[in-house]
Amino acid sequence: MSATTFSKLDEMMAAIEAEQPGDLDALEQFRIKYLGSKNIIKPLFGEIRNIPNEDKKAYGQRVNAVKEAAEQKFQQLKQQLEMAAEDAAVQDIDLTAPGEPMPLGSRHPIALTMNRIIRIFERIGFVVADDREIEDDWHNFTAMNTPEDHPARDMQDTFYLQDSTEMLLRTHTSSVQARVMKHTQPPIRIIAPGRVYRNETVSARSHCQFHQVEGLYVDEGVSFADLKQTLLYFAREMFGPEAKIRLRPSYFPFTEPSAEMDVYLGTDTEKDYRLTKGTGWLEILGCGMVDPAVLENCGIDSTRYTGFAFGMGIERQALRLYDIGDIRLFFENDVRFLRQFAAEF
Ligand code: PHE
Repeated sequence: MSATTFSKLDEMMAAIEAEQPGDLDALEQFRIKYLGSKNIIKPLFGEIRNIPNEDKKAYGQRVNAVKEAAEQKFQQLKQQLEMAAEDAAVQDIDLTAPGEPMPLGSRHPIALTMNRIIRIFERIGFVVADDREIEDDWHNFTAMNTPEDHPARDMQDTFYLQDSTEMLLRTHTSSVQARVMKHTQPPIRIIAPGRVYRNETVSARSHCQFHQVEGLYVDEGVSFADLKQTLLYFAREMFGPEAKIRLRPSYFPFTEPSAEMDVYLGTDTEKDYRLTKGTGWLEILGCGMVDPAVLENCGIDSTRYTGFAFGMGIERQALRLYDIGDIRLFFENDVRFLRQFAAEF
């Protein structure tokens, strides 16, 4: 009795060894047969009742070994067959097929123009200062020598935040001058690119939001000649080595003396004729020597230091650079327009 029961174990072991499931489906059949809830090894465990006491231990060990053998074979085959299935899937990939093109974004023409300007000034030691678009009255106006009742506040129609007489959308990047001077002592040499807002009627030539790059240089002995030379350098880098500039006297509350700078584009092309209204001259920036009162407002000793500042508009330069006819295109975010700048970084 005992001998035949033991031989059943041998048969079962041989049967397990002989199994050759060739794929995952066959392996599942194997699992159900030997390891499932109604597996065929189970009855062999039941047989232990009929085994004489002295053989019970040996039988128990061997029936466990049979079960383990089934489990081991299952795990091993599972790994093998799963790997084979993965390999088969990889082999289905056609490595010679052309790749799917990755959709590439493009930089905005305003950003491209600003980056060009930034690079030009970085070459002569200016560093970028970045600051907030939602500004308080003090940094935008008061510090810049434009107190509340000053007529110059009318020059810029300001967007105030709802219910506020204090918080506004900055009307120029000159607010960054105040921000920087308040926490830095000279030498200061910064450019501040960014977006500004004015309550203006939107047309092909002007918009209620636009971009400026501010420049500020404060140190001992900074003169108007330094300003002029810096601007000439900029114009030549930006518009070509033959570029001509002219400075016209002007007025800003925060500079004295003040000027506006035009660049000569000529009237050879229809585009330049239109952009310069037939004069050949394109106005691109306001500038001047920082008013000593501004330095003092920001905690800089005006008896020791002098400085120059300028603020240039970006949109007009971008119109020229990329031959664009209407300023509103910059703010519509039409991808058919924006995609045309994908080639440049
Ligand atoms: N902030 C002036 C403007 O927006 C430009 C400017 C900047 C003029 C710095 C002088 C000095 O028109």
